[in-house]
Order: sequence, then structure tokens, then C-alpha cells
Amino acid sequence: MYCIIVTLIALAYIFWDVNYFLRIAFTIGLGRLFQKKCGVNDTTTIYGFCTTQDVDIFLKHMNNARYVRELDFARFHFYDRTGIYENIKAVDGHALQGASSIRYRRTIPIFSAYKVETKLAYWEDKTLFIEQKFITLNDGFVRAVVLSRQNLINVDTETLFRGIPGADQKPECPEEIKHWLQAIEISSARLRKKE
Ligand SMILES: *[C@@H]1O[C@H](CO)[C@@H](O)[C@H](O)[C@H]1NC(C)=O
Repeated sequence: MYCIIVTLIALAYIFWDVNYFLRIAFTIGLGRLFQKKCGVNDTTTIYGFCTTQDVDIFLKHMNNARYVRELDFARFHFYDRTGIYENIKAVDGHALQGASSIRYRRTIPIFSAYKVETKLAYWEDKTLFIEQKFITLNDGFVRAVVLSRQNLINVDTETLFRGIPGADQKPECPEEIKHWLQAIEISSARLRKKE
């Protein structure tokens, strides 16, 4: 019996990124148990720790891909705490990552604790712009800053924000997002031309 369980767990780890699913369940679960609901205009925070699993080939600091993985946990947590997730689910919609831009400012060393702050920076009818920051706890330094564009499928922002406070005042489009949108347009036009 014991043998079968160990084999099943081993197989699960071979075929799936089990830790990814555990981390999502854990992050959302903790949020539901211990954190208040928040508005669309609030900043949410999750915490992380750079372990031996997260480092690059030099074994000294977090590898670049780990940041992107961490964004998912922080974003799901934000969606759950605000209630956006429930509203998406209610109409059978989806939010897909359409683009992201990361600026790595300084590495996150192994065995350091950090937090990821998530905030909705701007939105349009069918897109959300999310800003996330990786901040090390010992010095408060912003190690990386990320902009993401989430494309809404089968749902619009009005439906998304229904019943959630903080959406009454739409923020000004931040300067860097304006320029980033132009960059996306140019890249998109060039690819369309090639195809
Ligand atoms: C978010 O919006 C609500 C309702 O408009 C307001 O009461 C609250 O102060 C805002 N919070 C922040 C952090 O701006």
C-alpha cells in the first residue's frame, strides 16, 4: 500500500509540476483563511523565499523563469481576493496573459525572502494591465518590476468588476504603459506583414 502511494506521488511529480499546483492552492487558501477581501484599487501581497529549486546554474540567485512563475501565483491571489475570479467564472470567461515586460533590476539571492506586490495599473474594455513588483524583505529594494497585459475572453471589465469596490475611478494610463502599447502595436504589425 505504502509502495503504491509513493509510486503515485513520484509519477505525479514526473508528469506534472506538482509544486506549481500546491503553491496555487496554498496561496489562495491562505488568502481565503486569513486575508480580507479587497477592492480593485488595492495592492495585494504574497510572500516567497528563494530556495535551492529556484536558482540558476551559478546556484547563487533566482533564475529568470522563476519570476514569471511567481507572477501567476500573485495574480491568481489578486483575482481571488478582489472577487474578479468569481466574476470571470460566473460568465465562463477567461483572462489570458497576452504580453509581459520584466525589468530585472537586481538579483534575488538564494535563501532570501521577498514579496510580490500586485496592482491593477490600468484597464480597457477587454484588457487589464497589471503591475507587479518583487521586493526583498531585508532591504525593501524593488528587485524586479513587471507589466502584464491580460486579455479578457468572453467577458469585459464592466462584468469583471461587478460588485467589487474601487472601480469607480479609472486610473490615468501610466506613461510606461502608453509607450509599451505602442511597442506592442509595432511588433504586431511587423509580424502580420510577414505572415
Ligand atoms: C479604493 O476605492 C474605495 C471606493 O471608491 C475607496 O473608499 C478606497 O479609499 C480606495 N482605496 C485606495 C487604496 O485607494
